[in-house]
Amino acid sequence: MVVKLEPRGERTRELEAVRLSPVLTRLATYPFVRLEQAKRDVAARGVHLIDFGVGDPREPTDERIRRALVESLTETSRYPLAQGLPELRGAIAGWCERRFGVELDPEREIIPTLGSKEAIFSLAQVLVDRDGGRKLVAVTEPGYPVAERGALFAGGELLRLPLLERFAFLPDLDALDADVLGRLAILWLNYPNNPTGATAPIELYRRLAGLALEHDFVLASDEAYSELWFDEPPASVLQVGDRRNVIAFNTLSKRSSMTGYRSGFAAGDPELIGALRAFRPTVGTAPQEFVQRASVVAWGDEEHVERTRAVYAAKRELFLELLARKGLRLAGSRATMYLWVAVPDGEGSEAFAGRLLEQGIVVAPGAYFGEAGEGYVRFALVPSLEDCRRAVEILERVL
Ligand SMILES: Cc1ncc(COP(=O)(O)O)c(C=O)c1O
Repeated sequence: MVVKLEPRGERTRELEAVRLSPVLTRLATYPFVRLEQAKRDVAARGVHLIDFGVGDPREPTDERIRRALVESLTETSRYPLAQGLPELRGAIAGWCERRFGVELDPEREIIPTLGSKEAIFSLAQVLVDRDGGRKLVAVTEPGYPVAERGALFAGGELLRLPLLERFAFLPDLDALDADVLGRLAILWLNYPNNPTGATAPIELYRRLAGLALEHDFVLASDEAYSELWFDEPPASVLQVGDRRNVIAFNTLSKRSSMTGYRSGFAAGDPELIGALRAFRPTVGTAPQEFVQRASVVAWGDEEHVERTRAVYAAKRELFLELLARKGLRLAGSRATMYLWVAVPDGEGSEAFAGRLLEQGIVVAPGAYFGEAGEGYVRFALVPSLEDCRRAVEILERVL
């Protein structure tokens, strides 16, 4: 039987019972909900699943980080301040200097965030001017959907910039004319990219930072995967030199396998960081102080990150060999925990993912990340090395 990953519609019906924001009701069912349902159906038939579908790392968090959290638990607790602990801002500044060679003022150029997702979502709240003609938010697609959703909830309009293999999964900046640039509130980049695994040259950041200043928009760079690399460390937008109108987001989630801790930061133009300091107390999204103290340890150590990279590299190697043997084309995939694999000719990404799901191998259809993702599937290399070996054995038989 072929598994079909069809929209189900229950969620939409359920939502019609109460009056909700039209933005919420218009959002299509988050496609991963469909994948979850299809997974349940297959598992109910007794098929053992190995899940490469969702990018939630399952590597252990380093023992020293966990200990720092436990030792920071206090008898009483207070509201954490939006600007975060000075020790954490200092640790982040130190990391940015060691990693990117940039000197940031921890007071004015850095703010801790509750993971990076909420901060990526809410940037549009701070920058979109609905009535003043600055409400266009450019996002790349296929992509992580959070910046786009944040823009819609803030009353912004969307411009989707396709990432195509023939342009190395980089946006075509020549397609942006002066009229569009003049209406932009934010242009979002995400490199190393989820889902394509592509990396961006510093020239892309420099060119866009120049355009951002010239046309008065904000260049926002989601760098959640900057530490999961295999050949050379990827660049950051923080390295452009003049950081006016520029903001970067990073996180401990992938680097330090700390998704559950919720700890990240935004860094860049002091005016933007100042705006976040003003906005964020209203939302209450400062990380808990014990998480901040554990984060100081995490940003201060590279050894555990090197170990994590080595684990992903070993998993990746298994798959690269398999794909080569099977004549399947790997696209992008220079960094991140993802492999972006072209589906066999004539097969759609949902159909291919459905075929693998039947064998217990869960992957995400490229179409789930936007139209330009059709023709690919994404493997998130999160199962254990042992499970990756098992999956490769299965795929060896069925591909
Ligand atoms: C591209 C990208 N950015 C940001 C995030 C958010 O990560 P977190 O909120 O855990 O920092 C993710 C998570 O999967 C992601 O894929």
